[in-house]
Amino acid sequence: MSCEHATAAGGQTAPQEFEENNLSEVKRVIAVLSGKGGVGKSLVTGSLAVELARAGHKVGILDADITGPSIPKMFGMSGRHAMGLGNLLLPEISDHGVKVMSSNLLLKNETDPVLWRGPVIAGAIRQFWSETSWGPLDYLLVDMPPGTADVALTVFQSLPVDGIVIVTSPQDLVSMIVAKAVNMAEKMNIPVLGIVENMAYVECPDCGKKIEVFGPSKLDAVAEQYGLEILGRLPIDPALAAACDAGAIEDELPAGLLPDALAKVAGLPEHVEPTGSDDASA
Ligand SMILES: Nc1ncnc2c1ncn2[C@@H]1O[C@H](COP(=O)(O)OP(=O)(O)O)[C@@H](O)[C@H]1O
Ligand SMILES: [Mg+2]
Repeated sequence: MSCEHATAAGGQTAPQEFEENNLSEVKRVIAVLSGKGGVGKSLVTGSLAVELARAGHKVGILDADITGPSIPKMFGMSGRHAMGLGNLLLPEISDHGVKVMSSNLLLKNETDPVLWRGPVIAGAIRQFWSETSWGPLDYLLVDMPPGTADVALTVFQSLPVDGIVIVTSPQDLVSMIVAKAVNMAEKMNIPVLGIVENMAYVECPDCGKKIEVFGPSKLDAVAEQYGLEILGRLPIDPALAAACDAGAIEDELPAGLLPDALAKVAGLPEHVEPTGSDDASA
């Protein structure tokens, strides 16, 4: 196994570069991607995880944003540290049962900057997949690093990603940023499940009117241009941002926030070949 010679992933049937350990049995891997940072990728990842868990599924989040991890805080895990079990790491488990592995759980102090070079970051991604005991999971969501650079490539080349959810901001819809994410998925031969527009509008607290602060949405046009399914639009919601900051996303996420995205992700078939099988004895 070597991460230097990562071969282009060929979707579900291609051999993945990083091996799964025999204490993990992950049925589906879904990556949440955006063309750039700060558009709400982590918020969408966290929301989908909470909704899947509420629906009774076993859910994990692999926080692949190694240098800007934000999942542990969102799930009230600030200050916690991942434990080891033999050679394996154990994910932290949230109050409502969501398993999380993140560089944040390996730092001495949560506020320490992660100043790791590329190969070390790739090593961390491998550790979070190959050397983390995920146990049985129906869904593993991967909160991707921002953009379409090296680390994102590592994830797609190394993990058996079944589908990609693209998150975008209204501004990105008028630029080429969505195209970058779509092209990356295409090159990696991984199906795009659809697109979520975040911070699409604000709702007037008095009359409930939806105000499109950034002008009329280009979501429909962009979705049609790239043949993408629209999986939802989220408003700018200061209460939700505050809940994330307070580590209370599980308690405070409004029900039914992204019904179409949830249905799409939940409806993904399991891997063709269940991972965690005994390759050695085959
Ligand atoms: N719909 C939203 N309404 C209000 N705040 C949001 C919304 N989406 C994201 N945010 C806030 O914006 C910031 C960036 O979001 P985040 O999910 O961390 O983005 P990314 O993971 O793409 O970098 C966070 O502070 C988050 O709480
Ligand atoms: Mg993030």
